[in-house]
Amino acid sequence: MVPAASDFPPSGCDNWQKKNSLNSAPFMPDTRRMQNQKLNVLLLGSGGREHALASGLVSSPRLKKLYAAPGNPGIGELAELASMKITDHAAVVAFCKAHAIDFVVVGPEAPLVAGLVDDLSSAGIAAFGPSKFAAQLEGSKGFTKDICAKYNIPTAAYVRCHDQNSALAYLRKMGAPIVIKADGLAAGKGVTVAMAMGEAEAAVKAIFAGRFGGAECVIEEFLEGEEASFFVLCDGENLLPLATAQDHKRVGEGDTGPNTGGMGAYSPAACMTVALCAEVLETIIKPTVKALADMGHPYKGVLYAGIILTREGPKLIEYNARFGDPETQVLMPRLHSDLLELLWASAHSLKGKTVEWDSRAALTVVLAAKGYPGEVQKGSHINGLNQEFEKGVEVFHAGTALDGEALVANGGRVLNVTALGASIAEAQVRAYKAVDQIDWQGGFCRRDIGWRAIAK
Ligand code: AMP
Ligand code: GLY
Repeated sequence: MVPAASDFPPSGCDNWQKKNSLNSAPFMPDTRRMQNQKLNVLLLGSGGREHALASGLVSSPRLKKLYAAPGNPGIGELAELASMKITDHAAVVAFCKAHAIDFVVVGPEAPLVAGLVDDLSSAGIAAFGPSKFAAQLEGSKGFTKDICAKYNIPTAAYVRCHDQNSALAYLRKMGAPIVIKADGLAAGKGVTVAMAMGEAEAAVKAIFAGRFGGAECVIEEFLEGEEASFFVLCDGENLLPLATAQDHKRVGEGDTGPNTGGMGAYSPAACMTVALCAEVLETIIKPTVKALADMGHPYKGVLYAGIILTREGPKLIEYNARFGDPETQVLMPRLHSDLLELLWASAHSLKGKTVEWDSRAALTVVLAAKGYPGEVQKGSHINGLNQEFEKGVEVFHAGTALDGEALVANGGRVLNVTALGASIAEAQVRAYKAVDQIDWQGGFCRRDIGWRAIAK
């Protein structure tokens, strides 16, 4: 099989682990004990990402039973849903004990940044995802930028500002275009790419007025280039590169309008060649994982690097400490390896692990409620999901709910219609054909997902 351009390392490259561990990892005794044991798994989250993860987990021969909280109606077809609040760590631990949960898979970033994995670990429960300290790679832009500076990781030049006056003074010195980022988690809304000074000043003032809960911002040099997402599993010292994808952040066709959580994605990202993946791994990922290990808080979980391909080479835009949404909806249909084995190995030891991908491309189209990313109306009926779609088409739920027997919209991003195809163009045709088979008057989608790759 000829590997897709950005599946890295190419399948069958089994010496890769040996060459690429930071150190040789000690074999974890509890991994050995549980190596062939079937696992009760609790999946946390309620988005399209978690529905896609659930679809991977249920095909694992290692799975005994899958639970999910809070989940959504799509996940509810694959898992037993639990209703506890995932912000209540004691309730999550109690649920795990009551249901003999062996492994918790944390989907979204907020519980990671809040330290859920630490609390589970203190209770003796294995979990997929980084500790609170390591999750700062996503939770604090300043933390990540300081690591980049110390370890010489290519990224935009930056300053951290702790008060409005110094931030405004720096803006005036640098001029526009310039990028302003709130320091903490901001659900994708904390970044302003300001093309004019007025916009930049307004963004700084909003941050120091407490709009994002904190009083720190990072001001960055504006970078230009194509963006791609690169996903790597880490166990603290060993790395296992997964795959690449490209998201579509803007709400409008041709990448116009406000930023969203993501309106569609495809994998692999044509721009991330095998050589570029290797460069990103060497110059960005490995030094980051080393930095966390040096700090005494090894990074475990998936590291999602947002990369921009500038004229000077690939640079880091940001890290996320979890899988991407909607990128996971295109990674999971392409994954041939056992997802549960891989996530378990990330929490224990990735030594010797390899990963196999479908050589076909996958593309997902997000159906969002009218008004998204602004105010949306909930409760509109969605019909047509029970029909047989073409082979290789999957519909992942995000903001859906059941109103009696009826499926209704219950959020901004509502469905993800995903298709495999021999090329991104073919996957696109198949995904939009399925989109047009769904009857939802309250929704809309972008009609150009994949345009950049197809234009190439
Ligand atoms: P982030 O949340 O850091 O990924 O930023 C959201 C989006 O803002 C990114 O996907 C980029 O499109 C854009 N962005 C962030 N930082 C920069 C930068 N330094 N230069 C240009 N665009 C950026
Ligand atoms: N697709 C963007 C994100 O998951 O943050």
